[in-house]
Amino acid sequence: MSRLVSTTFTLAICVAVVTADDKTFYTSNALANMRYDVTLPNGVITPTTDSTVCQAICSQNDNCDAYAYSSFHKTCQIYQRNMTVHTVFQNSYKLWVLLKSSDKGYMLVGTDYLLPVYEMKNAADGTKRCKNEGGDLVAIKSQDMNDYITQNISLATMASYFFIGLSDEVEEGKWLYPDGSVQGDFDSWAWNGMWERRDKNCAIIGLNGMWKHENCGNVNYFICQIPIF
Ligand SMILES: *[C@@H]1O[C@H](CO)[C@@H](O)[C@H](O)[C@H]1NC(C)=O
Ligand SMILES: *[C@@H]1O[C@H](CO)[C@@H](O)[C@H](O)[C@H]1NC(C)=O
Repeated sequence: MSRLVSTTFTLAICVAVVTADDKTFYTSNALANMRYDVTLPNGVITPTTDSTVCQAICSQNDNCDAYAYSSFHKTCQIYQRNMTVHTVFQNSYKLWVLLKSSDKGYMLVGTDYLLPVYEMKNAADGTKRCKNEGGDLVAIKSQDMNDYITQNISLATMASYFFIGLSDEVEEGKWLYPDGSVQGDFDSWAWNGMWERRDKNCAIIGLNGMWKHENCGNVNYFICQIPIF
């Protein structure tokens, strides 16, 4: 399955957040070209002249993960997340996505959540857990993302090591992110990557933000990255 959005870390464009009935909705220009699934039985178009009505319809429906309002068509659509099927969204609508609660550990970074999981699991089981959330182990592709994780997760909790999404299991020395892309432009390997351990095909990040090779079968905490929709 292709990723729905590019995972640009910085989101410098228009972002807005509204809260209704304990539910927080989020929108940004980055959502304009995203794809969604109309899987709610009543996800069909409801005429309304007011976007707050659309928000209320979504807030009151436990299955609603997002709503879209078109001020041009004066219509509302509500959505339920479905990770298997994707339909292209119509242009003149603006999408608002229901945010997962930061109380439950979800950290919004650009159009993804980071979720540190404080359960000791091997890399495969950690990956499975992240996939259940609709994501994967985190792909750290920038210094900004590495700094965010170091300061807001590793140092903040003083948890020593987390699995991250990097593996050279397929070809020794060729490190791949979970989406299959090659780790290249950015790295934070301890020892400048010179301390190559052929027997260790996974990677962990430590308190100092440095990455180390790790045995995939060892258990560690891990960090998931989950697209918001
Ligand atoms: C997602 O879509 C597929 C294909 O239409 C369907 O079989 C599945 O039940 C849907 N899942 C949910 C949670 O609605
Ligand atoms: C840590 O999180 C806060 C709040 O989200 C953010 O403002 C800050 O930039 C983050 N730190 C780094 C190094 O990204």
